[in-house]
Amino acid sequence: MTFLAPKPPLLILFCALSLCLSYVMAFSAGDTQILLRVKAQLDDPKGKLNDWVPGSGRSPCNWTGITCEPNNFSIVSINMSDFGVHGAFPVRLCLIRTLQSLSLSNNYINGTLSTQSLTPCSHLHVLELDLNILVGQLPDFSPEFTELRVLNLEGNNFTGDIPASFGRFPQLQVLKLSGNLFTGPFPPSLTNLSELIHLSLADNPTMKPSVLPAEIGNLTKLEWLYLSLTGLTGHIPDSIGNLVSLKNLDLSQNSLSGKIPESIGSLRSVQQIELFLNQLSGELPESIANLTSLQNLDLSQNGLTGKLSAGIAGIHFVSLHLNDNLLDGSVPEILASSPDMLNLHLFNNSFSGSLPENLGRNSALQDLDVSTNKFTGQLPQYLCSGKNLSSLVTFGNQFSGNLPQTLSECQSLSYVRLEQNELSGEVPDKFWGLPLLADLRIHNNRLNGSVSSSISAANGLVALTISGNSFSGELPPQICKLSELEELDVSGNHFSGEVPSCITELKKLQKLRMQQNMFTGEIPSHVSSWTQLTELNLSKNQLSGSIPPALGDLPVLNYLDLSDNFLTGEIPVDLAKLKLGQFNLSDNKLYGKIPAGLDYEPFASGLMGNPGLCSSNMKPVHPCQRRKSPTVVLAIILSICVLLLVGSVLWYLKIRAQAFGGKPKRLYSVTSFQRVGFSGDDVLASLTNENLIATGGSGHVYRVKLKSGQILAVKKLWGGSSKEPESEAVFRSEVETLGRIRHGNIVKLVFCCSGEDCRILAYEYIENGSLGDVLHGEKLGPLVDWPARFSVALGSAHGLAYLHHDCVPAIVHRDVKSNNILLDKEWTPRVADFGLAKTLERDVAAGHSSMSRVAGSYGYIAPEYAYTLKVTEKSDVYSFGVVLLELITGKRPNDLSFGENKDIVKWVTEAALSSPFSSDGDGEHDEGCGVDLGQIVDPRMNPSTSDFEEIGKVLSVALLCTSAFPINRPSMRRVVELLKDQKPSGQK
Ligand SMILES: *[C@@H]1O[C@H](CO)[C@@H](O)[C@H](O)[C@H]1NC(C)=O
Ligand SMILES: *[C@@H]1O[C@H](CO)[C@@H](O)[C@H](O)[C@H]1NC(C)=O
Repeated sequence: MTFLAPKPPLLILFCALSLCLSYVMAFSAGDTQILLRVKAQLDDPKGKLNDWVPGSGRSPCNWTGITCEPNNFSIVSINMSDFGVHGAFPVRLCLIRTLQSLSLSNNYINGTLSTQSLTPCSHLHVLELDLNILVGQLPDFSPEFTELRVLNLEGNNFTGDIPASFGRFPQLQVLKLSGNLFTGPFPPSLTNLSELIHLSLADNPTMKPSVLPAEIGNLTKLEWLYLSLTGLTGHIPDSIGNLVSLKNLDLSQNSLSGKIPESIGSLRSVQQIELFLNQLSGELPESIANLTSLQNLDLSQNGLTGKLSAGIAGIHFVSLHLNDNLLDGSVPEILASSPDMLNLHLFNNSFSGSLPENLGRNSALQDLDVSTNKFTGQLPQYLCSGKNLSSLVTFGNQFSGNLPQTLSECQSLSYVRLEQNELSGEVPDKFWGLPLLADLRIHNNRLNGSVSSSISAANGLVALTISGNSFSGELPPQICKLSELEELDVSGNHFSGEVPSCITELKKLQKLRMQQNMFTGEIPSHVSSWTQLTELNLSKNQLSGSIPPALGDLPVLNYLDLSDNFLTGEIPVDLAKLKLGQFNLSDNKLYGKIPAGLDYEPFASGLMGNPGLCSSNMKPVHPCQRRKSPTVVLAIILSICVLLLVGSVLWYLKIRAQAFGGKPKRLYSVTSFQRVGFSGDDVLASLTNENLIATGGSGHVYRVKLKSGQILAVKKLWGGSSKEPESEAVFRSEVETLGRIRHGNIVKLVFCCSGEDCRILAYEYIENGSLGDVLHGEKLGPLVDWPARFSVALGSAHGLAYLHHDCVPAIVHRDVKSNNILLDKEWTPRVADFGLAKTLERDVAAGHSSMSRVAGSYGYIAPEYAYTLKVTEKSDVYSFGVVLLELITGKRPNDLSFGENKDIVKWVTEAALSSPFSSDGDGEHDEGCGVDLGQIVDPRMNPSTSDFEEIGKVLSVALLCTSAFPINRPSMRRVVELLKDQKPSGQK
């Protein structure tokens, strides 16, 4: 910026600034005064600054966060990290001349940093502003910053380029810029920071692709180099080998290509190398064998070829990840010699031969995944010798022989996937009942014997798949004790006897596959507890009796196959209520009239082979006694229905075919917004019907559990990208909005992927579902108490206030409702679903002052929308007011009990007006607008007297928010303040 010919406004600004500065100077006589002024400037909801009081007999040196030089009591360090303070960067602190270290980590410091605003801080040695909500470009630091050793700006929302001036700090040792939203390239100037020990720029997925300059090798004092997800392309420079002090090298999740340079073997201090998820090729450089300090090596998800040499395998790894490459050959026995090995991932390669015989013998092996290779031979017997093995994954190989006896003593096992091998013999009794088992998949082997009744001890099992073996005998009723079971597949064995009728006690069951066995007896009839069941396959058995009508009431059943049994009786009419994707009752002994709802062509193949059935509608089945001369009109209506039905079934089948691995085109782009340990394909492969949890206006929502155990909520949008501009707009709007946002009360977008066949958004999965579901469901959890409801109210208000006031441009949510407020593990509310959010700016730019297009959900829509058709921040405030009323009353916005034409707002408002203002003496139930709170407060709560007081006040905030006229409604920021004022002092 030039000051030679300042334009008038600049001049004024400049004058104002210097005036302001001199004002500050005049009052900075004592450091105590400075601290007190900063205290007054910051919002301090946790009261961390409460002991910053003058004249209390305690000098500032004894105040929280302040450290003084012991000799002369001058302030040298201020540490306000985790104080939870809100407000702009308190630059005034830098006026304390003796201050060397200033840390404000993990607060709510907002706004931008400017070159001028930082200038007073040039004498600092340490400046830490990480984990705040700063926005905008990074400022240039003036050349006066000669003392700075540590600069930490991680975890903010900074954008734009990293200024070249960041390469000019003469003494800088630590520079942390990870977790922002920079859009520029890797700044070559950083390679001038010759004193640097720690450089991190990771997790900036928005950075412009650029190469890692060869000059990086000049930083010979570097010990930590974190450049994961930084947009790096091209080769890893040979000069990397010059970083002889380096302990930790992380270049993962970039687009680096070419070979791993041989020079990497010169990193003699290195303990950890992370190069996963790049496009590296060629063989593993043999020089890695020189790295005697190396403990963790992750080269997974690249295109590496060749073998794992004995030299490299001889390193004492703690963890070695080579999965998802093109490696082959055998695994050297010496790999088992590491005394430290915990974690070995070799999956998705072409390794062959047997596993090292002594694997697990010398270390406390915890996690072994060698799946999808060409391994042969027996499973090593020492895997669990360290009594620590929790995850054992060997599927998709040719392992043979028995399950090692030692595994049945392996109490630590929880995730076991041995499917698709050639294992044989019996499964030891004790193995079935290992207490921590969550997943046991041993299908498609050659195992035999029976399922032991000891299985009841494995009562945390979620998935048990033993299909495609030669198991026999009866299924023990102890299996009904596995109350967490979601998937049970015993198909394709030789089981006999009855299906245990207690199996209906498995309330969480989603898939039950028992086909191709020799089960006899009847289908258990008390199935109404199977509310989660989506798939039931009992085909190819010897079941008799009739089909339980209650099957028709199962809410999510969409796959029903009872074919090839000896079932008799009529088809229950109730079955027509199911929304079936797969329906097969063929080859039984069913008889009678096919129920009207199933008497259509698309169901025909599922009804064949039941000679006793008759149809009034379908040619292939022999006709029932027909009604005479149906009118022409009826015939037309019927055929239209058939057409519609066939159409939708075909459409459904098409969708299904796509979902079930109809070849996905790999033409899509993936953007991740935080560290992710999976690929787009992993997620795509999981978008199956059984993972479907909801279907909304813009698409299906799936719950996807990744191999890593991480759970995501994945939204798959309708339609192809080019065909439907409308849904494309929804998609982009969500991505643009959510990708930018980091706030504790807003759901995080983890990654997205867009392309012709792939338009998905992956969010973190929020455990406790939506506020609406909890509040209007059966189990209230902590929400049975008012304080928990209050913190939901306050948290969501924070989230919305952030959208309205801290995002540039401001974001109007457009569909605030209790179903869009999700509750995480700690029951902290997270605002979700920006499907309708659009930034105000774009419409302003287009000449409208507010939004167009329909928005909102019935019951939450502000009254002015009816005549203005415009949505503003104030419409969100109205909807939020409705949510507050829901929290107080526990009723839905359109509860039928309100009577005709009345919604929750009218109901509460009328209660407020009709109630006498004078209280009846003690005033206990008489707060807020004179409403008799007893009438409207959710009867399921049991509020204390002080709760009642607070509810009354929250009610008045709710009524303000739902004022008929937008102008009377407070801003969201004001709502936050009003809510916070409600808290009786002393409470957090
Ligand atoms: C800090 O407080 C302790 C006792 O609480 C007192 O002895 C000490 O003199 C105080 N130090 C200063 C610098 O005020
Ligand atoms: C920063 O936060 C404070 C306190 O929460 C608020 O008053 C102020 O308006 C915010 N400033 C910006 C630029 O958002």
